[in-house]
Amino acid sequence: MVFSSFDYTPALYCACENQSIKSELLFLSKYYIIQEVSQCCSFRFLVGGSKLIIFQTTGMVTTKATPQMVSGSLPFHHRFHCDPPVELKTSIPRSGLHLNLKHRVGRMKFLSFKCQKSESATGKARDGLDGALFTEDSGKSAGLTVDPAGAPTAPLTSTDKLYQSVAKNEKLSRIRADSIEDEAWNLLHESIVYYCGNPVGTIAANDWSSTSILNYDQVFIRDFIPSGLAFLLRGEYDIVRNFILHTLQLQSWEKTMDCHSPGQGLMPASFKVRTVPLDGDDSATEEILDPDFGEAAIGRVAPVDSGLWWIILLRAYGKCSGDLSVQERVDVQTGIKMILKLCLADGFDMFPTLLVTDGSCMIDRRMGIHGHPLEIQALFYSALLCAREMLAPEDGSAELIQALNNRMVALSFHIREYYWIDMKKLNEIYRYKTEEYSYDAVNKFNIYPDQIPPWLVEWMPNKGGYLIGNLQPAHMDFRLFSLGNFWSIVSSLATTDQSHAILDLVEAKWADLVADMPFKICYPALESQEWRIVTGGDPKNTPWSYHNGGSWPTLLWQLTVACIKMNRPQIAEEAVRIAEKHISRDRWPEYYDTKGAKFIGKQSRLFQTWSIAGYLVAKQLLVDTKGAKILMNEEDLELTNVFSSVLGSNPRRKRPRKGLKKTYIV
Ligand code: GLC
Repeated sequence: MVFSSFDYTPALYCACENQSIKSELLFLSKYYIIQEVSQCCSFRFLVGGSKLIIFQTTGMVTTKATPQMVSGSLPFHHRFHCDPPVELKTSIPRSGLHLNLKHRVGRMKFLSFKCQKSESATGKARDGLDGALFTEDSGKSAGLTVDPAGAPTAPLTSTDKLYQSVAKNEKLSRIRADSIEDEAWNLLHESIVYYCGNPVGTIAANDWSSTSILNYDQVFIRDFIPSGLAFLLRGEYDIVRNFILHTLQLQSWEKTMDCHSPGQGLMPASFKVRTVPLDGDDSATEEILDPDFGEAAIGRVAPVDSGLWWIILLRAYGKCSGDLSVQERVDVQTGIKMILKLCLADGFDMFPTLLVTDGSCMIDRRMGIHGHPLEIQALFYSALLCAREMLAPEDGSAELIQALNNRMVALSFHIREYYWIDMKKLNEIYRYKTEEYSYDAVNKFNIYPDQIPPWLVEWMPNKGGYLIGNLQPAHMDFRLFSLGNFWSIVSSLATTDQSHAILDLVEAKWADLVADMPFKICYPALESQEWRIVTGGDPKNTPWSYHNGGSWPTLLWQLTVACIKMNRPQIAEEAVRIAEKHISRDRWPEYYDTKGAKFIGKQSRLFQTWSIAGYLVAKQLLVDTKGAKILMNEEDLELTNVFSSVLGSNPRRKRPRKGLKKTYIV
């Protein structure tokens, strides 16, 4: 492949020899008027009416060359990908080249433009598809405009027809699906962040069309989990190892907010690689890792989930790579213990669940999830199990393991008993007596039956159930939070019956939870006065948007692991199939809005890395379901036994005075 010339007008010329790639190009025609230039396999992408010659192929590029848009040169992150790689004959280093394009082209044209007349589009039919789609007016007549984010704001009726035709053709569909994966891999690799030349993570979003970057240019711990898993499942272990060890260093960073320091075990929400002048040498620079523990985050939210995810990834790394030397390192063992110390520290709490502030997990802004949100509890339980597996049997750790066991017994009992809801339980709550002052109260948390929301009475299917979002004194948050439910299945926090029932509910409520794009982050949305009071009138979390009932493609991977664990992968397969219909065409949004997940989210970033990685992990696991084992925790039968012995028939025995064993303090 030879680098030919630059011309800063927004169209791309490329050529290829591979016939099958033509179908892939048809897919791209959703946004571009594609013109067949010369020979049977040369294409010209005309966007703004004139052409940008980025490169062209010479000689035989008959390998799996996948012509994709050059990242940064267009509002797409498609990239010419060749396997085996073909050398670009240019003196400009790759990264320099992209920066260049990003700056010059990105700013020049793509913030806002209309599809213009393409001078010489032939309109010639290809692959049995409607030739009219390629005529010069195809974009114009459909009134296609591109918004500042590069998204079409009006449907292209003619290209929609094309899309349908492509979908009808089984062969082409298969090719397209393959190319979605290829594209996703390219994008994931594009998102890699380097520190001193080594890969250490992936950037949250690579959306160059976005005018406000905020902290989406950072590596988020929680966002990296699907990236890390995708790399692990593909045998690319280094980046995960580096990520684990570098974030570990950040754990002991000095962190303060207005002179107050949180516990030392806290893991950052995110970090950024910065280039700073070298001390004492004005001419030299060095790279540093700059973490954010919530001191800079919007709302100053503490990322409680980061450390829990870190432990889960650490175990997955060992299981997948076979390299146990990382988890055995003294600093890593200390890191695990520091996280546990924070989580197991005694407080005022009556409940075994972890008490956190609002916004301490994936939902990282005010959404009324302070207290004991399910997501944190599921990750906590999973991290306890993973840590127990990894802690080295040495002096001192026996007591810690005892403490873990105690907490796990209490935690799983609490969640299984008090968070579970189905038709039967709902009916029990409906008939609850209140104000019971006694040790053996049925309605322990003094829930007023009036709290049962009217939507739930209608919505709850006869078969199926779920774990509610939160439980506090006199308060049950009946919203369904997907991640917490999926991870309760994965970690065996939910019983086997409950796990199946959750998936039964997912099937029964498919139209509400999946609709046009998997998966609703929570259901239902807070509306009207409730939205105003609970979110504080947050304009980003309006009903059915973002955290408030928005649909997040990244949740595909957690759904997939849960389905595989329960031996029901077909549910995840169907969800992936739905996502594949338009996720790539929509440019991998962070989230979708509306009840039916019909629109790309109002403030959604495009090319959101965990949407890309989540899709890839789901695909990888569905091909080889054994891979899911690196994440799953099997039910601990010993714990279950302790469990049943604690629950005797005498209710007073439900509250043993001395507890099972003394709580451990590190
Ligand atoms: C948003 C999400 C959060 C995610 C971050 C980076 O703040 O709520 O979960 O980690 O974006 O993608």
